[in-house]
Amino acid sequence: KILILDFGSQYTQLIARSIRELNVYCEIKPCLQPIAWDETIKGVILSGSPFSVNDENAPIIDIAAIAAKVPVLGICYGAQMMAKVFGGEVAKSNLREYGRAFMEHNDKEEKLLYDISAKSQVWMSHADSIKRIPEAFEIIATTENIPVAAFKNTTLAANPMFGLQFHPEVTHSLEGKLILRNFLLHICNCSQDWTPAAFVHETVERIKAQVGDKRVVMALSGGVDSTVAAELIHKAIGKNLFCIFVDNGLLRKDEFETVLESYKHMGLNVKGINAKDLFYGKLAGVSDPEQKRKIIGGLFIDVFQQEATHLTDISFLGQGTIYPDVIESVSVNGPSVTIKSHHNVGGLPEKMNMQLVEPLRFLFKDEVRRVGREIGISEIFLGRHPFPGPGLAIRILGAITPEKVHMLQEADSVYVEGLKEAGLYDKVWQAGTILLPVQSVGVMGDERTYEFTVALRAVTSVDGMTADWAHLPYEFLAKMSNDIINKVKGINRVVYDISSKPPATIEWE
Ligand code: XMP
Repeated sequence: KILILDFGSQYTQLIARSIRELNVYCEIKPCLQPIAWDETIKGVILSGSPFSVNDENAPIIDIAAIAAKVPVLGICYGAQMMAKVFGGEVAKSNLREYGRAFMEHNDKEEKLLYDISAKSQVWMSHADSIKRIPEAFEIIATTENIPVAAFKNTTLAANPMFGLQFHPEVTHSLEGKLILRNFLLHICNCSQDWTPAAFVHETVERIKAQVGDKRVVMALSGGVDSTVAAELIHKAIGKNLFCIFVDNGLLRKDEFETVLESYKHMGLNVKGINAKDLFYGKLAGVSDPEQKRKIIGGLFIDVFQQEATHLTDISFLGQGTIYPDVIESVSVNGPSVTIKSHHNVGGLPEKMNMQLVEPLRFLFKDEVRRVGREIGISEIFLGRHPFPGPGLAIRILGAITPEKVHMLQEADSVYVEGLKEAGLYDKVWQAGTILLPVQSVGVMGDERTYEFTVALRAVTSVDGMTADWAHLPYEFLAKMSNDIINKVKGINRVVYDISSKPPATIEWE
């Protein structure tokens, strides 16, 4: 595998994904955490960073010690740090570059740039520049603006060290992936054996070894992650997996019944629990978004725990945690502010004193889908848009009533079905409707109406961290407006949300 040391760049996850796409396994680690060496580590990549290497508190590590064991590739900040620690010079300069640049090189023998065009578009994003490379290092590529676009050393340590001033991991570096591939295959001698099939095999064996003949309990949500995780655990231990699927009354229209049915079809040992009234009761009159989230998260844990106590001999808790949940908490800038407290079953393991089984802990979302496909999970689950844990509660602004939930479920269903019919569902990353606490005047037939407004939301995104509003066709929006107002009693106005994230968020609460 490859280790990526994270110095806080916004692109670190992209490096990891590019490497995984090349079927090589990699992990992201905080830059200052000591490396736990073993023979599976074949190379180390140093990421970019919001820091300048000349900042007083800039994270600096012992690159020579790493190169004594495996080849090293520094990207942007990683390259500048490499230049600096070996005695070169890095400084702010008017040579800074953002965006497109053209890397030029002419050494056909250079393994890192094997098969790369003599002039190749790369993406830059740096304020500092490498003014002088250390002695014993050599420049292997330049751009028009900067003399050092790529450099290397093969003499100071047992393994070679490379630095790239640009970002090979972004798609705008047109041959960037090929450069990473060269590093992995020709310099680190990695084999491309990280495939969904290999992952499934390994994971099932690992779960068998971890759990043995003990029992696992797990909450299902109907989403991709928990479904794929459950199926992997199921493959490993069969009927010793007990699943619980809670109806909190905040799911989409008919979702509980249809999803429960699909789970049973998959052979999962699943119990559906109707806890609607409990949730509605505790949420009555609550309009503060954070309070809603806390109530729902807390109640979920109560219901789950209550059910789990009926099961005997449970030693493990299964969870669909994925890699971004794990690495988001790692940042050299310290903990980030809480924008929204996301609902997951985070509080459960400590409370229930069980060990965790998390088969997807090291996968990105698109990899979860690939694995899901590999083990034959239906596209109904795999192609589904993300849906927040607190469900429709955070799409009903203001206090929640069962009537409002019903109204929103109907409007949402018209919209989602409409997207599917128009062939737009798979083109957007996530879509849903939001019920606004606004009543306005309208006219239907000869009657005056005074009813609610629903906002339609559809966004394009890669990972939900940033998003743009989807430019849905006007004709489609017109049809949705008509259909919703005609079909859903209580709604007389439809608006479309044209805010991106940031500065807005995807959900309204
Ligand atoms: P925001 O609104 O923060 O949403 O831009 C980003 C993505 O996260 C989803 N989301 C949640 N998912 N529990 C979840 O499991 C939550 O509490 C939660 N809040 C937001 C949201 O639907 C979007 O996909």
